[in-house]
Amino acid sequence: MRVARFAERLARAHGVDTLRARIAGMLHDLARLYAAERLLDECAARGLPVDAFERAHPIVLHARVGAELARERFGVDDESVLSAIRKHTLADAVMSPLDAVVYLADGIEPARAFDGRAALEALAFRDLDAAMRAALASSIAYLRTRGLAISPHTLAAAEHYGIPDPLEERHPA
Ligand SMILES: [Fe+2]
Repeated sequence: MRVARFAERLARAHGVDTLRARIAGMLHDLARLYAAERLLDECAARGLPVDAFERAHPIVLHARVGAELARERFGVDDESVLSAIRKHTLADAVMSPLDAVVYLADGIEPARAFDGRAALEALAFRDLDAAMRAALASSIAYLRTRGLAISPHTLAAAEHYGIPDPLEERHPA
């Protein structure tokens, strides 16, 4: 509900459809409590392809499976809403304003606690693209410093938003 409310406010600020934002916000985590095995099974049952990154980190599949559940159980047939649900965890090479609103709402809703949350929220209300760049850069930096794998979808999003060499080692000046 926090993500839904935040997404609705953010959508309003950017002239994005608020109802779509709210619905995507409410339904984005439908599959979040499924275990890894269940997520893989749900994909297999629907003939959905699973890539190597998803196979190694099935938890990210909750976004794609969530979109399927939104369609099947809640009758959501609006592709823009399903897309926003599908991309809320990893982002992707193509991000509509609605996709960005839901991705950002999920990452910076008020209960999230991290340094710079308030600044990122302010940026998100001012400039959606700049907030996406900041959110993706920080997420990639987080994964890199912990030596964790980065999804090809997230890397494609980084490229889309013009983040330079996300896989390059950064040396402090
Ligand atoms: Fe999620």
